[in-house]
Amino acid sequence: MLILGLSSFKNDTAAALMRDGAIEAAIENDKLQRSLSSRCVPDAAIQFCLEKGSVSWNDLDVIAVASKPARGWTRRALSRPRLSPLEPVATTYQEGKELGRFAWELTALRSLRQRLINPDKVVTLEHHDCHAASAFFLSPFDKALILTLDGEGDGTAGMLATGEGNKIRSLKTISFANSVGWIYSRITDLIGFIPSKDEHKTQWLSLEGEPVYKDVFLRMMRHAGDPLPRVNFRYFRRDVTGAFETSQYFYDQINLPGGKAEFTPEIKRNLAASLQAAVTELIADLISAYQKKTGMQQISLGGGVFHNTLLVASLERKFGVGNIFVPPAPGNAGCALGAAAWIWHQQMDKPRTAQAEVRSVYWGPGYARMEVKEVLDNAKARYAVQNTGEKKLDSAVTLLRAGKIVGWFHGATEFGPRALGHRSLLASPWAAYVVENLNDFVKHRESFRPFAVSVREEDCERYFTGSPLCRLMNSLAAVRPDADVLPRALQLPGGLVRLHVVEKETDPLLWELLRRFGENEPAPILVNTSFNLPGEPPVIRPKDAVRTFFCSGIDAVFVDNFLLTKSGSAHILNQRVPTAEVHAPA
Ligand SMILES: [Fe+2]
Repeated sequence: MLILGLSSFKNDTAAALMRDGAIEAAIENDKLQRSLSSRCVPDAAIQFCLEKGSVSWNDLDVIAVASKPARGWTRRALSRPRLSPLEPVATTYQEGKELGRFAWELTALRSLRQRLINPDKVVTLEHHDCHAASAFFLSPFDKALILTLDGEGDGTAGMLATGEGNKIRSLKTISFANSVGWIYSRITDLIGFIPSKDEHKTQWLSLEGEPVYKDVFLRMMRHAGDPLPRVNFRYFRRDVTGAFETSQYFYDQINLPGGKAEFTPEIKRNLAASLQAAVTELIADLISAYQKKTGMQQISLGGGVFHNTLLVASLERKFGVGNIFVPPAPGNAGCALGAAAWIWHQQMDKPRTAQAEVRSVYWGPGYARMEVKEVLDNAKARYAVQNTGEKKLDSAVTLLRAGKIVGWFHGATEFGPRALGHRSLLASPWAAYVVENLNDFVKHRESFRPFAVSVREEDCERYFTGSPLCRLMNSLAAVRPDADVLPRALQLPGGLVRLHVVEKETDPLLWELLRRFGENEPAPILVNTSFNLPGEPPVIRPKDAVRTFFCSGIDAVFVDNFLLTKSGSAHILNQRVPTAEVHAPA
């Protein structure tokens, strides 16, 4: 049985191929297209899934799309006039835009159906059902309360449901007009970041502020006595195009009647901290209320709101480590997995297996050694072949100990937004100016955004208090006070840290690298960040890795068994490994 799951056509488009209940291939279209904003039928991702599964389009039994365009359009259309009864021009303008979006989504669906001999194989599913399916069916829980929250999908912004065995039962949907994700985006915009893109910046900025406006945001997002989000639109007004912005009422509530003109960096930090605190409190209260109603203790979380690892870590602290699950890609890309899982379990009634919990997400493209060599030769790159795994690890440890930033490219690409060791940049946490060098010469990030570190599962407890969600970097860990070896620059306020826990079974190469690196260093821990340039998705192909290497301050890169170095790094290895087989361009 072959099911191709597709996320919606809106953003974070992706495809996933499921064969007899097992995920065989999955990739985000943006990573293949090298863009961060593809709104389309994810053709590149589809093509990859078909090739990896060695199947043709007509071999597929079901193509499950995580969107019902007509239902979404109807819900949005019914809500919009209610939001702006006194602004008919703006409403009409927005209506036109919505019609355009609806027509485009129908065209996308038609184009899928036209490719099939039997067009009935294309089925559409509720967007939040797919978020829920990826949150529950990929979890270790047999029974759980499910909460999904995002900006908007098919006219809804969230869902509460229960999952038991292989069935999900919806309890309540949250209208898009009461969207927590939308509020988070609006305030992200207000602070000066890009909405629907930079919410993670608001999250990290929140750590530098004080939640002095938390009660204002709580009043904005809910009504007294009701745990469900309910947006109070007095806090917003529509501009001439119908787009929402914060109203004078909002500025009065935060005692800044002059509006944005009065914002200082400190006020922006406090706004971020207040929003984060309010969202966390609202969601925690919502979960508590539905835990009481359902009697369910374990919680599966899906939707883009749960990209927010600070929020997830707070929920873990409240509801217990081990009681929360977040899927590998909680946002829209993960709906591709959810759509396939929904068909398999919910519709076809197939049971879940004991191994249902996802621990390895290396479902994307990988490249044979000869393919890599061809790319490097074509790029006229100078490389050293690491003939054995020993030599490769030895060279990597030498470079890392010398304080170099090392690109680490091997195996199949990770699915989801985190770098989990197959397309990563690694560095020693104790290298001089490691954070500054990563920021100034590669990532160009704001100073308040933290880097993650990787540690082997066996060493985790010695240095950190983590959680199972750290395997996929969906939560945070705390540094143990009695083993506080990590430089402050890599720690968040309160001794928190972004942690990637590496299992030997899922990534034996990085596991072994960490072990060897730790032999003569303060701890077996490495800085791990995504292998990409600012504004680009993580690298996928060898040619992406080569271009990123030469366009940045990365000192060396391993692409499979080929090592590329820059002059500042080559001599370190030449002193140590005089026998490395070096291939120079002709
Ligand atoms: Fe979504």
